[in-house]
Parts: sequence; C-alpha cells; structure tokens
Amino acid sequence: MSMLPRIIGHRGAKESAPENTLASLREAVRQGVRWIEIDVMLTRDRVPVLIHDDRLDRTTDGTGAVADLDLADLRRLDAGSWFDPRFAGETVPTLDECLDFVIGEGLGLNMEIKPYPGHEVATAEAAIALLRRRWPTDLPPPLLSSFETVCLEVAQLQAPDWPRGYLMWEPPSDWATIADRLGATTLNVEQSRQTAESVAAYRATGRPVLVYTVNDPTRARELFGWGVTSIFTDAPGRVAAALSTS
Ligand code: G3P
Ligand code: CA
Repeated sequence: MSMLPRIIGHRGAKESAPENTLASLREAVRQGVRWIEIDVMLTRDRVPVLIHDDRLDRTTDGTGAVADLDLADLRRLDAGSWFDPRFAGETVPTLDECLDFVIGEGLGLNMEIKPYPGHEVATAEAAIALLRRRWPTDLPPPLLSSFETVCLEVAQLQAPDWPRGYLMWEPPSDWATIADRLGATTLNVEQSRQTAESVAAYRATGRPVLVYTVNDPTRARELFGWGVTSIFTDAPGRVAAALSTS
C-alpha cells in the first residue's frame, strides 16, 4: 500500500470530540487529517453503525448491548453529551452517513470491523457490502481491518482487491502464518508492545506496520525511526504539529 499516510485519525479525533461521531470526523479533518479510522458494528436490525464498545453505556446515554437495539431506537440516544455538553445531540452515525462525509471530503478510510460477539460474519458481510456499493473508484481503496480473522476471511472473499489490515493485540506465535493465510496487506499492532526488534520482524514480511494508539509525539518519533509506516492517534493535530517542529 503506497498511499498510506503517516497519521490516521483514531475514531476521528477522539481526544477533542466524542469518538466515532460525525463531529469527531469533522474535527479530525479540521486538524488536518486525510485518513480516518472508524469502528463498525451491527444494530439488531443489521444496520452497520459507528461504535467501539459492545455496550452503549460508555459512549451514549443508553444502556445495554448495541446488538439488542434496532437502528430507530439507537438513533434516539445522545452520543455526544458524555464527552462534553457542547456535543449534545450527536447521534451514533450509520456507516452510510459516515460515507457521505468521508467520500464528500475525499478522505482515506480504515474501517475496523468490530463485531458484536457471535455476529462476526454478518457484520463483515453487511459493512463490506455497503462499502462496495458506495466507494468511488477515484479514491484510494479503503483499508479493511479486524482483530477477528473470520472478518478478514470475509473481506478476502468479498473485496479481494482491497487491502486488509491484520489487527493484533497480543500477537499469536504463528502471526506470520496467519497474516500469509489472510493475505494481509498491513500489520496493525499495539504501541506499548513495540521495540526496534518487533517492528523489524513485522517489516521483514514486506508489510507496512501501522501502530495504535500513539498520542505521545516522542513515542511517535521513535516508532517512525524504527520504520513504522503509520500511527493511529486520538490527537492528529497536536501530534502532527509536535512532529513537524522536532
Ligand atoms: O484499529 C486500531 C485500533 O483502533 C484498534 O483498537 O480498541 O481502539 O479499536 P481499538
Ligand atoms: Ca478501532
């Protein structure tokens, strides 16, 4: 993937706006970002929406499982006030609405498929199908990523020509074999676990290394020095400014 940026806005600009809302995506763009990472899950009526947790409690004024609510009920929830009262009235966006914005702005997109447990295949199929219908040919193809290897297998079948990011937390000992099997394009790894050696091992497979979530510019500089291609950050403007003045 030659077109990857150095900085990807994590859940939009999570440090400055309620994550995974349209306000957060707008804020990321305001801070100068051209690529955005989002988390996608299905409602009970199988509509792909932007939300990170299995439960509503942390990022909305609702409670319970995301998978227990139809879209119409989810849309009544406030997804902004928990972050700051000035974001009152933000809703959980549908993937469709998110694409209106992302495509309209001509942004790059990393869609993380974040299925509710047990909904892995349905989530990947619905989210990728929507993206396939809507994604314009004049934008770089979206990067599809997941911690769930079955979601990447669906991506392999449904979007074989689009890049796939193999997301890892604690990498399994056979991560390189899994990455090969999935035809992974990028390796998306957690920042605190990285050393010069681990990054070198990932890079030795020929794949770009993307690291989450890096909010400390000093750490970002170190990771780039080791050959990391991109970082996901909650604070794209702040981190980019610090890197450019060093
Ligand atoms: O895709 C990178 C990163 O977002 C993965 O972790 O928990 O923030 O979705 P998480
Ligand atoms: Ca994510």
